[in-house]
Amino acid sequence: MSLVTSKEILDAANEGRYAVGAFNINNLEFARAVMSAAAEERSPVMIQASEGAIAYAGMKELTSIVKSLAKDAGVPVALHLDHGRKFDVIMQCIRHGFTSVMIDGSSLPLEENIAITRKVVEAAHGAGVSVEAELGRLAGIEDAVAVDDRDAFLTDPDEAAMFVERTGVDALAIAIGTSHGPRKFKGEPVLALELVTEIKNRVGIPLVLHGASGVSYDIVEQGEKYGAKWGGSKGVPDESIVEAIRRGINKVNIDTDMRLAFVASMRETLWTRPEVIDPREVLRPAIAAIKSVSVGKMKLFGSSGKALTLS
Ligand code: G3H
Ligand code: 13P
Ligand code: ZN
Repeated sequence: MSLVTSKEILDAANEGRYAVGAFNINNLEFARAVMSAAAEERSPVMIQASEGAIAYAGMKELTSIVKSLAKDAGVPVALHLDHGRKFDVIMQCIRHGFTSVMIDGSSLPLEENIAITRKVVEAAHGAGVSVEAELGRLAGIEDAVAVDDRDAFLTDPDEAAMFVERTGVDALAIAIGTSHGPRKFKGEPVLALELVTEIKNRVGIPLVLHGASGVSYDIVEQGEKYGAKWGGSKGVPDESIVEAIRRGINKVNIDTDMRLAFVASMRETLWTRPEVIDPREVLRPAIAAIKSVSVGKMKLFGSSGKALTLS
């Protein structure tokens, strides 16, 4: 089927109280792995590309790959711009067939975030494209030492209500103490999960959790066995993800877990089979590794089997 909007996918998830994985891709290998996982799990899925991914792979190339794979996937697929910051890139994405865009104005003062988000909502909705915005800053809670600092990072429920009302966004990314990358916590993983409930009660729309990778100990160990230096890696525990979904998260962003699995697998193949010169022999197991990560996430998020209720 052709691409659907993220609003269609996420409103159904909101209604059904589950979450859909939004997986970052940069190339054909990642796109095929995620799509094949979604087809096997009968799961709706969001494929997302950052501005960096678009610069790396090419706008036309990336959109052609995803559109073509989505046609045969047999499950609802949305193509989403992750952390859009440049208005012209957002407009290019819309012109090239993205069905969803994120405007990330989270580093701007509140009124500027509202103004740019409204501008994007007007343009995107006019083209039938959904919009995600972000309020709060992604940073580990323990990085903000004083309580006041901590609260300044996290999303404020009153601000969230006002932001959604004034911008008309379809989904809102909130900050509850997660951060991007493999080193999310220095000590115990601490998340402000109660904020999800408070914000959901105020806004009702699908909520998004960024920086949600679990950082599997086994995969870190596999990478390190074959030379990686991934010390200090720590991710969000599965139980926290399940609890966040129970409280109202409907889109969960995953990039780091796929990067780790892909690179760990490539390291192992290159190390254990030094005779290999055919890149496909290195890439095939790496694709299988990220497919397995995506399948695990779809089961964890509760989206497996939910494609049927959508199409
Ligand atoms: O949140 C950011 C994603 O992990 C994408 O990262 O900008 O390096 O493509 P990137
Ligand atoms: P991770 O780095 O935890 O995978 O988060 C990815 C993300 O939020 C992409 O927007
Ligand atoms: Zn993110």
